[in-house]
Amino acid sequence: MVHAAPHILIVGSGSVGRRHARNLAAAGCRISAVDPRTDRLRDIAKEVPVEGCFETLEQALHVSAKELSGVVIGSPPKVHVDQCLASFAAGLPVLLEKPVSPDLASAQRLTKAVASGKVPLLLGYTWRWWPPLAQVRVMLADGAVGALRHVRFVLSAHLADWHPWERYQDFFMASAEQGGGALLDESHWVDMALWFFGMPEAVLARVERISDLEIDSDDNVDMLLVYADGLRVSLHLDLYGRPHERSIRFSGENGTILWTADPNRVAVAHDAVGTWENTDYDCQRNDMFVAVGREFLDVVRGAPVRTCTVEDGERVLRVLDAARESHRTGRTVPIAAARG
Ligand SMILES: NC(=O)c1ccc[n+]([C@@H]2O[C@H](COP(=O)([O-])OP(=O)(O)OC[C@H]3O[C@@H](n4cnc5c(N)ncnc54)[C@H](O)[C@@H]3O)[C@@H](O)[C@H]2O)c1
Repeated sequence: MVHAAPHILIVGSGSVGRRHARNLAAAGCRISAVDPRTDRLRDIAKEVPVEGCFETLEQALHVSAKELSGVVIGSPPKVHVDQCLASFAAGLPVLLEKPVSPDLASAQRLTKAVASGKVPLLLGYTWRWWPPLAQVRVMLADGAVGALRHVRFVLSAHLADWHPWERYQDFFMASAEQGGGALLDESHWVDMALWFFGMPEAVLARVERISDLEIDSDDNVDMLLVYADGLRVSLHLDLYGRPHERSIRFSGENGTILWTADPNRVAVAHDAVGTWENTDYDCQRNDMFVAVGREFLDVVRGAPVRTCTVEDGERVLRVLDAARESHRTGRTVPIAAARG
């Protein structure tokens, strides 16, 4: 039964879990929380009123599944699929933070469960809810810079700056086994490429650790997505860059669109010297989490998943698997599915 005030279980009371808890509490939800770390449970309870605190999802479902309306999973990627399946077994809709899982095979288990069951899953590739990027997508569909030939993603951010409250060596991002690393965590941008352009025909990549960061996950990804119609998309993802950069440059035969997170801007130029027409935005990073939370509450109340599905997440992992294989073999790896 769905309460008038939805009761949401936050699984993983770390950075993103606390953020969702704050946003959902502000939207009128009741909150319970799971984390194996009691300090994390104390932290979340300082930020929002928490009805129940549990060290495992199993305990939470055992004690209060009937009380709950939905589950937000913000734990490390290694446990995402099993936690989704446990939530489905209790009949609870899930908002799953990206990536679906560390590998394609386990993501496919989840896709099957979503396809065969009655319980919905909304996936949190949250940049899909970012208005400037939605605007770029409209501009591309309208042919704003003519036939698109090359797109360059640059996402660079030193890992030590991500969570100032903890040593980066202790964060799951440092651990390949937990599902950390640039390839998986910055897969937002692979998702963006697929959202803009569909599946590529082939992938060429290097996925490696090249910095002095004390981690055993990858910290540097260079990837080329090859499309059948001639479009080339390059992605550079790293965990060591300062100052941080998030930018996408779309080069067409009739000009360039440049999106940057900082400044929060979409710029277009059509001439050789770069006479840019800038559109500046005032949206804040938290707005995309508020928007995904709002869509999740619609899903909890019975609406279909609109913006990001488990199949979207599986497609991302197919590209990541191809990228890993390309690095291993030194070859360009074809992707079976046609673009679209
Ligand atoms: N959409 C976005 O932009 C965005 C932003 C940040 C993080 N994320 C994603 O959210 C997830 C968590 O990232 P984070 O930065 O919050 O990490 P974090 O380390 O701050 O939080 C993860 C929490 O999960 C807890 N945890 C570990 N094992 C658990 C288990 N079995 N059950 C429940 N909790 C468990 C940890 O103790 C920790 O408190 C990752 O998948 C990450 O990629 C997405």
